[in-house]
Amino acid sequence: MNILSVDTSCDDSSVAIVDSSAWKLLGESTISHTSPMQRFGGIVPEIASREHLKALPMAVNQALTQAQLTLRDIDWFSVTNRPGLIGALLVGVSYVKAMAFAAGKPFSVENHIEGHAVSPLLSSFSGVNPPPFPWLSLVVSGGHTELFRVNSSEEIVWLGGTLDDAAGEAFDKVGKLLGLPYPAGPLIDKWVRESATPEDRRLPFPRARVEENAFSFSGLKTAVALYCRKQTPLSESEKLKIAASAQEAIVEMLVEKCRAVGKAQGISQIVVAGGVACNSRLRALIPEGYFPHPRHCTDNASMIALLTALKAKSGNLTAAPWTATAHSSLES
Ligand code: KG4
Ligand code: ZN
Repeated sequence: MNILSVDTSCDDSSVAIVDSSAWKLLGESTISHTSPMQRFGGIVPEIASREHLKALPMAVNQALTQAQLTLRDIDWFSVTNRPGLIGALLVGVSYVKAMAFAAGKPFSVENHIEGHAVSPLLSSFSGVNPPPFPWLSLVVSGGHTELFRVNSSEEIVWLGGTLDDAAGEAFDKVGKLLGLPYPAGPLIDKWVRESATPEDRRLPFPRARVEENAFSFSGLKTAVALYCRKQTPLSESEKLKIAASAQEAIVEMLVEKCRAVGKAQGISQIVVAGGVACNSRLRALIPEGYFPHPRHCTDNASMIALLTALKAKSGNLTAAPWTATAHSSLES
């Protein structure tokens, strides 16, 4: 069965095609919309919606061309309908409904965060065994910092999440204070990796000690803002120290919590997904962790096609009604 899936939950228009019978990823295309947001220093939801409307036809064509298929060869459509930016999600849901209606085929709806949580299973499409269950799955992106216990591809239990900012948001806000463009996470990672010394990581930024299974990053952002205010004008070497020390604080909080929750849950296999899982310092500090390919850490529709294919495989795939809609929050 050929499944075409769409994800427009944030600022990437992503399309993927999977053959669930042959268990192969046939095509994928992701068009990112970070550049129209850069002059605003963050995501502007209405701009994201408008960019999806422009980019989706191109992403669908690119994925079909790569898969050497046409729309008539698609047997099932699926789309992320939660959580995310509501306008952006509505564009994806409407687009998939229109394709399914035109092709006379069913469609189903999927949860974006569950997609991130199971994304290590994407390796099975290329014949590479994923890590054995159970996993402690940390999903760290610009909008989410969530911990799941993944007992199987069908049993994903939410354990806890951030009380305020997401880890990616913390990277982006620190970057903004340092005058870096959005999204600052990858820039901070590269700058620190290439230029910082271990001493540069030692500015005393706070590590929030919050309840079991929870995270908090807003105190760090405030501490960095206060530090920057005291140091003006900031020299380049001072900015590097702030970037390196803030990254160290964010990564340490993530690692400590994963280890503690993993121990309490009796799970040794940590998997990390979401955009922040691309971070080289985080990867270095969890050497035993499993990190998907960076292309599948950031937002992508392949993980959505994977969720749909897993349901098809276990006989649990059901079509959504034509009244299906989008929801901004994790619970639908
Ligand atoms: O999962 P994602 O592509 O989109 C969602 O937010 O759903 O994650 C984007 C976030 C941004 O906040 C970006 O700054 C962060 O992931 N990010 C990183 C790195 N690459 C992306 N943060 C730290 N280090 C990186 N290498
Ligand atoms: Zn995401």
